[in-house]
Amino acid sequence: MYAIELNNLDFSEEWKESFWNRFFYLYPKFTDGKGFRTKNVELTERERFMAGPISEHLKRKVMVVFIFNQESVPIHADGVGSDVAIQIPFIGCNEETQTHFYDYNDDTSIELAIHENIASREVLHQEKLKRVQTYSMLDKPVLFRSGWAHNVTSTFKGIRIIYSWRFKEEYTWEAAKEICRQYL
Ligand SMILES: [Fe+2]
Repeated sequence: MYAIELNNLDFSEEWKESFWNRFFYLYPKFTDGKGFRTKNVELTERERFMAGPISEHLKRKVMVVFIFNQESVPIHADGVGSDVAIQIPFIGCNEETQTHFYDYNDDTSIELAIHENIASREVLHQEKLKRVQTYSMLDKPVLFRSGWAHNVTSTFKGIRIIYSWRFKEEYTWEAAKEICRQYL
C-alpha cells in the first residue's frame, strides 16, 4: 500500500478555508484556465498550530495542487526533498479522479532520474511497471508515498484542489506510517 486513508486525522473546514483565503489573496490568478498546476506556500505559525500535533513532523510549506478539466497526469515520482506527504482534500474530490501506484513486475525497487528544471522525478524502465493500487481521495486525508511511481487519471470536468503537505526530509515512508498509525 502506498496510499493510506487517515480516518482519524481531522483538518477542519475552517482550517482549509482560511488557508485557501490567504493563498487566493496572494495568488488570485492561480485558478485561471484549465490544466494542472502546483504552488508551494509557507504556513503561518497560527496555521501550523491549528493543524494540530502532526504539523511537528511536516514541512513549513504546503503545496496547493490544482487540476481543472485535465484527463491525466503521467507516471512520475514527486520531486526530491521529501518522499512522503499527507494529501488533504479540499474541493472537487470524488470518485471520478483516481490515483494509481506502480511497482516493477520483477519486484525490484523503482528507479528514478532527476532532471534539472523539472519539479518531478522520471520513473525509469516504465515497460516493467504494473499497477498495484488505485484509490480516489474523498473527504479524508491520505498518507501518500509521493516519492514512488504514480499517476492520476480523471473524468471529472470541474475544479479539484487538494493540499499536499510533505513530511520533513528525514522521514522515510516506514517512519511516517508509524507516526500515522494513531490516525488510522
Ligand atoms: Fe505526484
